[in-house]
Amino acid sequence: MFKLPTLVSLLALAASELAAASPCVTFDSNFNLLVFGLDGKDWNAGTQDSWTNGTATDITTSGRPSFNGTDTTCYLAQFFNAVYVMNGESSDPSAVHIYDATHKSWSKQSVTTGSFDPSDFNTILDHDTNVFYALSKDTLYYLNMGEMTTANSSAIAWVDVEQSPYPSSYTNPVMALAQNHVHFLDIPGVSAGDAKIFVIHYSYFQPDAQSYPLPNGSAFPATHGQTASFFQKEGVQQEFAFIPDDGQATYVINVETNTTEAYAGPPVKDAGATYAASITALVQLDSQGALAFLPYTEGDVSANTAATWESVKAIAAVAPASSAAASSATGSVSGSVTASGSKVTSTSGASGSSSTGSASGSSSSSGAIAVRMSRAIVVAGVLGIVACVL
Ligand SMILES: *[C@@H]1O[C@H](CO)[C@@H](O)[C@H](O)[C@H]1NC(C)=O
Ligand SMILES: *[C@@H]1O[C@H](CO)[C@@H](O)[C@H](O)[C@H]1NC(C)=O
Ligand SMILES: *[C@@H]1O[C@H](CO)[C@@H](O)[C@H](O)[C@H]1NC(C)=O
Ligand SMILES: *[C@@H]1O[C@H](CO)[C@@H](O)[C@H](O)[C@H]1NC(C)=O
Ligand SMILES: *[C@@H]1O[C@H](CO)[C@@H](O)[C@H](O)[C@H]1NC(C)=O
Repeated sequence: MFKLPTLVSLLALAASELAAASPCVTFDSNFNLLVFGLDGKDWNAGTQDSWTNGTATDITTSGRPSFNGTDTTCYLAQFFNAVYVMNGESSDPSAVHIYDATHKSWSKQSVTTGSFDPSDFNTILDHDTNVFYALSKDTLYYLNMGEMTTANSSAIAWVDVEQSPYPSSYTNPVMALAQNHVHFLDIPGVSAGDAKIFVIHYSYFQPDAQSYPLPNGSAFPATHGQTASFFQKEGVQQEFAFIPDDGQATYVINVETNTTEAYAGPPVKDAGATYAASITALVQLDSQGALAFLPYTEGDVSANTAATWESVKAIAAVAPASSAAASSATGSVSGSVTASGSKVTSTSGASGSSSTGSASGSSSSSGAIAVRMSRAIVVAGVLGIVACVL
């Protein structure tokens, strides 16, 4: 019996064609803003003081991925001034492309996936160990990037850590890194304002949720969204931004004080947007390819409350949003569909509807060179613990 194409498969086809470009946003270790795969090119918008009046530099060079993968994400390995790109190339979804920001060169790291599904996961790059932790379906995996600024000739492997204790309906995880703890939001059955935690150094899922209330006793919503961890001048991230898909507010969760502050939501309400944070800014890359930023001052609630989002004109000047769109240039279909079909298309780019997805975020690493000495020891410790668990 023949099979008629379903609406879903037609939408998937349309979306896969629209998803021919899949840009990602991150920083180098000097907090120059980097945008890859935008308008077919890669850009360095410089430091924050030049975002509103400068002109981004074209840093497109050989060896780069095509940025035509689905849900391409990129992560700064701050100790190494390297950017790791996941799903940068549709024809090689398991590879990690490495941008050595010091030498402005690319290489491609082969990765063995085992049971890990590169079309269906979310991940964070741990600051101190330079190890990715990913939730893919119901299982937590890690991928150890070592000290890589260029690819190794031998493959590295996603390693199965253990099955997650979360419900099987938690198919579209919201993950963020702070204090070497992986935070999971929007878990079914977990209250608004609460997160579940995986403690990296002990390879341990904390059984109890941690609460992060707002000062007035309210809570960030129990809903899907995107995250980005703010770097620190020294040490591991202590705060992360959580932007619900409806974009109504920007919540900043502080895992030292166990509190949340609510600030202005991004200018474009876009469930397909992705985010990156430096020490002093949160950046939105929307699904039309436009960039905006919210200046941020750690520990200064009144400054952050007064702060407003601004366009990153340095990028808009060289890669106008309409021609740079990751999707929906025609306004017909936005979002994209993962190979597993987990991502839902929405009918307008800024609708804030239920676009779901897999990989997200550019929460990455930050910190001081002082921590560097202990990193190898920490890695050894983590791997030792992981080995014991296994
Ligand atoms: C851009 O703006 C920043 C801060 O407003 C200022 O310090 C800088 O001099 C300006 N640069 C140019 C090229 O106008
Ligand atoms: C992505 O780019 C690669 C390399 O240019 C190409 O082989 C592949 O067919 C492209 N995929 C899509 C979906 O355009
Ligand atoms: C890369 O290769 C070097 C040299 O063989 C090795 O020491 C290092 O551990 C490898 N890195 C990773 C992340 O596998
Ligand atoms: C935050 O919560 C953690 C875990 O419950 C706790 O250990 C820590 O003392 C709390 N910090 C503050 C400042 O309340
Ligand atoms: C608490 O503060 C948040 C963020 O400013 C606001 O959205 C919410 O309405 C407030 N709730 C109450 C009960 O005042």
